[in-house]
Amino acid sequence: MLLQEGAQLGGMFRLRLWRPVVVGYRPEWNRLVLRDLETFRSRGSFSALTPYLAGGIVLTDAPAHRERRQALNPHLFTRSLRPWEHRLAEVVERSLPPARFEALEWASTTVRTMLDEVFFGGRLDGDLLAAFLNPLHRGFPHPFLPRRRLFARMTRAIEAEVADPAPGSLAESLGHVDDAAEELRVSLAAGFDTTAHTLAWALWHLSEHPEWCDVETLPLVIDEILRLYPSGWLGSRVTSCEVVVGDVALPTDTLVLYSPFLSHRDPVLWSDPQRFDPARFAGSRPAWGFLPFGAGERTCLGTHLARMILRIALAPFCRGELRAVAGDPTPKAGLTLRPGGPLVVERRPVSLASAEGRRRVGERAADDA
Ligand code: HEM
Repeated sequence: MLLQEGAQLGGMFRLRLWRPVVVGYRPEWNRLVLRDLETFRSRGSFSALTPYLAGGIVLTDAPAHRERRQALNPHLFTRSLRPWEHRLAEVVERSLPPARFEALEWASTTVRTMLDEVFFGGRLDGDLLAAFLNPLHRGFPHPFLPRRRLFARMTRAIEAEVADPAPGSLAESLGHVDDAAEELRVSLAAGFDTTAHTLAWALWHLSEHPEWCDVETLPLVIDEILRLYPSGWLGSRVTSCEVVVGDVALPTDTLVLYSPFLSHRDPVLWSDPQRFDPARFAGSRPAWGFLPFGAGERTCLGTHLARMILRIALAPFCRGELRAVAGDPTPKAGLTLRPGGPLVVERRPVSLASAEGRRRVGERAADDA
């Protein structure tokens, strides 16, 4: 990957894409770029290039950004999400796959259904939702192509939900926000493939490391998957004035990138960074060095929802054991990071020996914490 080659040059380097860009991945760079919303603007960044993200909160800049987040945030805090736990667990139980299944496909269908439940009480037309979200799974150029008729149909369907929302749905709680339908559409897109790909990778790694198949230690596994495969692998901003970083001057209108992927695999920050080792999250994590959901005021609006979906979707698999059959988990870069796939895994009833192994892992992680 071009980025990994660039990272050999140091913590900050230049790339020539269709326009010159400056990339950094060390904590001090992440802190600089993500904390100052006045200097590092979203308008003109990569998000503007795809119709899925070009709108709503994603392209709102300071000072309007803060007020808009204050309107949206409370509805996506853990406390507000709690009433959905039970309904989402039911969705997953209804969707459990056969003994042998392809994890990426199962994760996509299940996350789509779970998001529909939270956003619209499960009422949105399933075919329309699938048609709208599926291009996000595909490589360049699919997520970037304009699909005006499809987007107009999707917006109308969301507007209808906002006008007559399912009780308790996000369509109801966000209905009072300006451009509610656009916010819901952008959030749905931002939350779909990111969460689905993370879930697929988690299933694959649990199948290769069945000793981690334990509900108690799922949060550590989820963090480790988000570290190795941050689906939001690259974030971008545009400078609104000249910024001096060390002895380098970045002129106004410079496109700057931060990369959770590079930060998460930096050997300066992580020991043996390429290794899957959820136990590392029983300890502390490097400040501004672990940012699967970004950081600062623009941090992912769906952080708690994504974590909740992942935990609930993975829990039933901990009742048994998973085995990797065949697959390619290598990350492929696109709008988001996705596994090469397919990822074929098998569910098996738990054996006493592996249950004992899992208990030991759980105890070790609890001791470390
Ligand atoms: C594992 C799943 C997810 C990952 C890895 C992820 C990652 C990210 C990242 C890295 C950002 C910051 C982008 C930047 O700095 O420019 C972000 C922003 C955002 N995410 Fe997520 N996301 C996930 C799930 C979700 C979900 C479920 C939602 C649904 C509500 C969502 C909605 C958003 C929105 C609306 C923003 C823009 C926030 C703003 O600009 O203020 N994401 N996400």
